[in-house]
Amino acid sequence: MSSVSIIGPNGQLGSDLVKVFSVAGWKVVPITHGEISVENPESVSGALKIVRTDWVINTAAFHKVDECEKDSQKAWEINAFGAKNVAVAARDLGMRAVFISSDYVYSGNKEDSYSECDLVSPVNAYGHSKAGGEAVTLAANEKNLVIRIASVFGAAGSSGKGGNFVETIINKAKAGEPLSVVDDILMSPTYTVDAAQKILELLNLNQSGTFNATNSGSTTWFGFAQEILKQTKLTTELNSSKTNWESALKRPKNSSLDIKKIEGLSISSPSWSEGLSRYLVEKGHI
Ligand SMILES: NC(=O)c1ccc[n+]([C@@H]2O[C@H](COP(=O)([O-])OP(=O)(O)OC[C@H]3O[C@@H](n4cnc5c(N)ncnc54)[C@H](OP(=O)(O)O)[C@@H]3O)[C@@H](O)[C@H]2O)c1
Repeated sequence: MSSVSIIGPNGQLGSDLVKVFSVAGWKVVPITHGEISVENPESVSGALKIVRTDWVINTAAFHKVDECEKDSQKAWEINAFGAKNVAVAARDLGMRAVFISSDYVYSGNKEDSYSECDLVSPVNAYGHSKAGGEAVTLAANEKNLVIRIASVFGAAGSSGKGGNFVETIINKAKAGEPLSVVDDILMSPTYTVDAAQKILELLNLNQSGTFNATNSGSTTWFGFAQEILKQTKLTTELNSSKTNWESALKRPKNSSLDIKKIEGLSISSPSWSEGLSRYLVEKGHI
């Protein structure tokens, strides 16, 4: 039986990884934040020595982008050195590591979507620290995996960010609040059930290296909000707004990800709007 440890098993992606791998018949060992802090190498190696699974998937992150900007040292400690602690301990124990990364490793200045061949070019502290985590993960063992996802929504809601965009829109619409959402940032939303399924298939196919694993297609945050209201049949005033590009916190303008590499392995990539419908059913919103 194949085995996997999941760091961050109660998080938005982690909880679906636990479900998807368990249903597929894998032995799944959850490693919670109560048991380890990825930035503490002894806690990581101590936990991995006990579990000794084939794989370890690291979903832990400090990912409030504005807070990362204010405390870039903490962002590096968790997102980059934490990733190193996991990848090095895993390598020393003969395990392989998967690091969950982000579209924010890119500047967003490209016209097209970003493929795995594009060089990273982060514009903020969060993106820099995730790019660091990617590099150390693959440097520790070329058989490791880096999985890039973006604009994540999953039933558990992000513990680190306090929910997700879909729930924010639904809550505000139900409260009758008018919505103002930016229409000048393009991204590829990711349903955690679909991302977890793709990660399972990549491990089953013994893949290594970097993969974009968002849902297919891209949209603006405004387009995402429109689709949420359409599918839930909620009505509230929805206005488009513009990003303040002069802000000290820089964000990628176009971080949509190209998923041809994963599709080339015949791993299915449902569209983000189809993933959204299944999410809304899962949460009982429709
Ligand atoms: N959310 C997004 O929109 C998004 C977009 C692109 C990429 N990503 C990446 O996707 C991954 C998963 O995101 P998510 O939304 O599922 O995150 P999440 O819900 O915040 O889950 C993170 C999990 O990691 C645990 N954790 C946090 N810091 C830790 C630490 N220092 N040591 C050990 N465990 C720690 C958390 O436990 P506690 O809650 O107990 O602290 C939680 O269970 C992250 O790597 C993130 O960078 C997310």
